Amino acid sequence: MTTQILPMVPAASKATIEYDGRSVALPVIRGSEGEEAIDIATLRQKTGLITLDPGFGNTGSCRSAITFIDGEKGILRYRGYPIEELAERASFLEVAWLLIHGELPSPAQLASFESEVKHHSMLHEDFRRFFDALPKDAHPMPVCAAAVGALATFYQQPETEQLTHDTIVRLISKMPTIAAFSYKHSIGQPFIYPRNTLDYSTNFMHMMFATPCEPYEVDPRLARAINLLLILHADHEQNCSTSTVRVVGSSQANLFAGIAAGIAALWGPLHGGANQQVIEMLEQIVREDGSAEKFLARAKDKNDTTRLMGFGHRVYKSYDPRAAILKKTCAEVIRVTGGGSSRLLDTAMKLEEIALRDEYFVSRKLYPNVDFYSGVIYRALGIPTNMFTVMFALGRTPGWVAHWLEMRHDADTRIARPRQIYTGATQRAYRPMSERR
Ligand code: CMC
Repeated sequence: MTTQILPMVPAASKATIEYDGRSVALPVIRGSEGEEAIDIATLRQKTGLITLDPGFGNTGSCRSAITFIDGEKGILRYRGYPIEELAERASFLEVAWLLIHGELPSPAQLASFESEVKHHSMLHEDFRRFFDALPKDAHPMPVCAAAVGALATFYQQPETEQLTHDTIVRLISKMPTIAAFSYKHSIGQPFIYPRNTLDYSTNFMHMMFATPCEPYEVDPRLARAINLLLILHADHEQNCSTSTVRVVGSSQANLFAGIAAGIAALWGPLHGGANQQVIEMLEQIVREDGSAEKFLARAKDKNDTTRLMGFGHRVYKSYDPRAAILKKTCAEVIRVTGGGSSRLLDTAMKLEEIALRDEYFVSRKLYPNVDFYSGVIYRALGIPTNMFTVMFALGRTPGWVAHWLEMRHDADTRIARPRQIYTGATQRAYRPMSERR
């Protein structure tokens, strides 16, 4: 599995740094969509300086040919294909193949990939004891992270091209099983095994909601909604969890370890964990007095730590295109499932409407992100709240894999090892215990 990374082209001009009476020229390089960057690879050697950029908001960590985002214009494309087209027309496994291989699969390639994914969906029976060892009230995100890390203990062969392929198939295939088992464990129900006659999304719903006493008929319209959500989550270039996967992989740790780390990073409330926070926020507003205005006043108050969850993004400074698709889908899913979640949707739309007119949110360019409406859909689909971020992880797995592969095949990859500006104590002598108070 190799993917092609187009070279970065030197731009016509150079950037010049004036420092300590010297003038140092640094190359400027250009990506395929015209974005430019100063290449600082020789900066320290030429000047003794490093750069400081907490949160890496101005720092490119790699070149990548997987996903393009224009945050000002609200554009998202996987391998050049607009997210809107993929969301409307593709299947999740088709998108997974696209991200990993760089091209849409042929009918034969997709059929073979689907068949491989189906045939690896079972977990080793000894995994039952793994779940048994964990508390029933454990959040499913650390359960999934631990389970994916534990896969490395079941598949220990040395890395070869074929085994990397097998690892990738196993990951994409077993993630829904791990996710559904972690849910079944938490509610004390027997595990429901995967059924190879079902497609990816339907199989996941079956493992989540069937019981040995009762089959669960999956409404194809709802399975399509799951397919859409997984596609929208499939990749988002160098976000926190994907960067984590790349950083872990840069030490040449194995892929299971990298994905386990990615899941852990995704869990945080500022990243994928925001979808759970959004629904809890909407429920709180509905429970209290339904006042969106009051909640927004708290989110704007700098003495209050409350944030409008599902709003704002490091890259998007306009409407997140994924949120636009999900807003539309919310109403459709609620129409199918009945009105149970419509109060939450109404509250979300009210919050959005007020925020997008409010000077605080307008001046900071804060718009709804992918997590703002996804929770309302998950709720309407019957997915339990603590599983929302697991759904994000299911969708993001092919993206993490694609980045791990790209990083491994990029000749420029070096172990990730940032520097720092030290601000601690300067040298001092050790004081024996008897001299300390
Ligand atoms: N509610 C209220 N104020 C906000 C919010 C928000 N949701 N987001 C940002 N701000 C304010 C922030 O207080 C700051 O104000 P000031 O300039 O007065 O100090 C300004 O906007 C810039 O915010 P920042 O925290 O410096 O921006 P960032 O790029 O570091 O953070 C973010 C991006 C997504 C972490 C942040 O917008 C946030 O916390 N949003 C809520 C959590 C959320 O929805 N996360 C999901 C992100 S999308 C899914 C994913 O890919 O992970």
